[in-house]
Amino acid sequence: MSDASLPQPEKSEARAGPLFRTVLRFDAVDSTNEVAKLLLGQGADEGTVVVAKRQATGKGRYGRAWASPLGGLYVSLVLRPEPRQVPVLGLLAGIPVAKALRHYGVFAALKWPNDVVFMGKKIAGILSEGVYRGDAFYAVIGIGVNTTVDLDRLPEDVRPRATTLKKEVAEYVDNDDFMEYMLRHFEDIVSRYRTGTGDRLIKDYRGLCTMIGKEVVVGTPQGRLAGRAYDITAQGALVVMDKAGKKTEVLDGTVEDVA
Ligand code: BTN
Repeated sequence: MSDASLPQPEKSEARAGPLFRTVLRFDAVDSTNEVAKLLLGQGADEGTVVVAKRQATGKGRYGRAWASPLGGLYVSLVLRPEPRQVPVLGLLAGIPVAKALRHYGVFAALKWPNDVVFMGKKIAGILSEGVYRGDAFYAVIGIGVNTTVDLDRLPEDVRPRATTLKKEVAEYVDNDDFMEYMLRHFEDIVSRYRTGTGDRLIKDYRGLCTMIGKEVVVGTPQGRLAGRAYDITAQGALVVMDKAGKKTEVLDGTVEDVA
């Protein structure tokens, strides 16, 4: 690809973090994950942060759309983990998002694998993707947070199941401050993960995952599974226990119902 066809940021900023050291700021993009993937191997490396004010075609999990009006936070983080680490890193990325929301006044919780919810309504989502550039493997962790967004700016079908920081908190929250808080916590998590305290991090995740112990229905590629959300494994799987006490580990799925 010629450099002329690469997306050009409005601004490129150096950040003084141990991991996320380059912030590429865009006005409007199709998807920050797609921009990050395009820029990989063209200068963007581990530690690159791609952030945009809005996205025309923001992507959610399973090919769903992520509504991205002005005011929300849309950011993708580039890491270079081993391919097998991507699901757990995607899961752990929920921790700094939930913590940042709590810091700014919304007592958010995690819904496995990485929806961030408040009072049962979704306020943030994470899409982690793995991609090769030559022999190098990268993870792009895309985070979308409904920060300074009016609920009626979201699509009508999304509104009943969604909320925003603006709706829940009277005070204005600056997206850059929110992102900085999140990045600092994520840097700490990645550093702890890399120094081998992954099990402790899964416990932190579990502590924020309020659906543990509740009755759930999980949609999986193999079909629907009903039971009690019992635990999260070190690999990030949700353990569901049925009425007979049989436990099933689900690595890929969506929780359709929590009672
Ligand atoms: C989901 O809950 O389905 C995941 C939503 C992830 C949305 C974010 S916004 C920033 C990044 N760019 C995208 O296109 N998607 C992610």
